Amino acid sequence: MSKALIIGAGGVAGVVIHKCCQNDEVFEEILIASRTLSKCDAIKASIKNSKTKISTAKVDADNVDELVALINKFKPEVVINVALPYQDLTIMDACLITKTNYVDTANYEPKDLAKFEYSWQWAYREKFKAAGITAILGCGFDPGVSGVYCAFAQKHYFDNIDTIDILDANAGDHGYPFATNFNPEINIREITAKGSYYENGKFIETDPISIKRVYNFPQIGNKDMYLLHHEEMESLAINIKGVKRIRFFMTFSQNYLTHLKVLENVGMTSIKPILFEGKEIVPLQFLKVLLPDPASLGPRTKGKTNIGCIFTGSKNGKPVNYYVYNVCDHEECYKEVGSQAISYTTGVPAMIGAMLLLKGLWKKPGVYNVEEFDPDPFMEALNKFGLPWNESFNPDLVD
Ligand SMILES: NC(=O)c1ccc[n+]([C@@H]2O[C@H](COP(=O)([O-])OP(=O)(O)OC[C@H]3O[C@@H](n4cnc5c(N)ncnc54)[C@H](OP(=O)(O)O)[C@@H]3O)[C@@H](O)[C@H]2O)c1
Repeated sequence: MSKALIIGAGGVAGVVIHKCCQNDEVFEEILIASRTLSKCDAIKASIKNSKTKISTAKVDADNVDELVALINKFKPEVVINVALPYQDLTIMDACLITKTNYVDTANYEPKDLAKFEYSWQWAYREKFKAAGITAILGCGFDPGVSGVYCAFAQKHYFDNIDTIDILDANAGDHGYPFATNFNPEINIREITAKGSYYENGKFIETDPISIKRVYNFPQIGNKDMYLLHHEEMESLAINIKGVKRIRFFMTFSQNYLTHLKVLENVGMTSIKPILFEGKEIVPLQFLKVLLPDPASLGPRTKGKTNIGCIFTGSKNGKPVNYYVYNVCDHEECYKEVGSQAISYTTGVPAMIGAMLLLKGLWKKPGVYNVEEFDPDPFMEALNKFGLPWNESFNPDLVD
């Protein structure tokens, strides 16, 4: 009898829950817990034809005592954290106290500092080991599948990986002048931060959105993409031994960037509190209220995403170039689970990570990034659960 507690009831949580319920042999019982109970109940009501037993609860995931009480009552084998990165540490604390396994999709970020890195969560390694519980960090698409692709390339096709380019393209159109595909606050903090890439043993910082390339994506075509700092580079630089360069690129339309620039220029993306009519507000949090809820984009979004990794390196002394990627169709995702592809491509891997943990295939006491596990069962599950991958040994390279 496997029980999972899913924390959060947003766009990604909706997909995780649908996918767990499609996999009812593994996920026999789930509890959906979030800040707004009505959202948990709405997701529960949208699930049809599943043997998974579902219950819902209200929880403030910033409060460790509340989380501990909820976990002790439900007694799950795993907590899947698809709330916000701000809650990672409180949820990990509650997992430690209750000796419960943990999976998330984004690394910890303090609310008052636009900085995301693994150090805070890696600091739990020894404590999780001593408690005999597993934490799988960053198990969405990127981070997540991007790291699994790296472990798979390393295991099957390379003796040495020299370079990794992670390319994230979204050619979806939701018809709004400006909207983000996942939580606007987290998304805008990520894009307006300085960029960075890893080269010859160190990270090199760049100005935000200052390095542009054009890439001809399979099934999508030519897109402008920009170099960003992204969290998986931090763990891959350690776990892919000998790698010389890692970069991360994401596509943005000129329209999106113009809106973002204007909002930034007038101070709307700032996380510094300001006084408004005698009350302190954070401009970015106010902007989030004005922007479309990413969970509502599903019925309007058309087009495809393409996310993958290009590797260069060598095997048996011969040079190898390798590209592995997934193409996901927004409308197909909506038909299947009522969400657009960004939530889908994040939620499916989170379910797979939890499934492999519950099956004992990805279970080892401690705190790990996805590339530290055997990629094969994960790659097999991606094909089975809706994110099939394609390979090319002759890809266009990014200069
Ligand atoms: N790795 C990847 O590829 C990837 C890609 C996209 C997103 N992500 C991550 O996925 C996560 C979810 O994203 P999303 O787009 O689903 O966001 P979302 O739609 O904003 O959903 C977040 C959910 O968390 C709940 N929540 C926030 N604070 C809470 C608290 N203190 N206690 C309990 N619940 C709380 C929210 O409650 P309310 O409903 O009350 O607001 C909401 O239901 C984020 O961490 C994001 O960074 C990862």
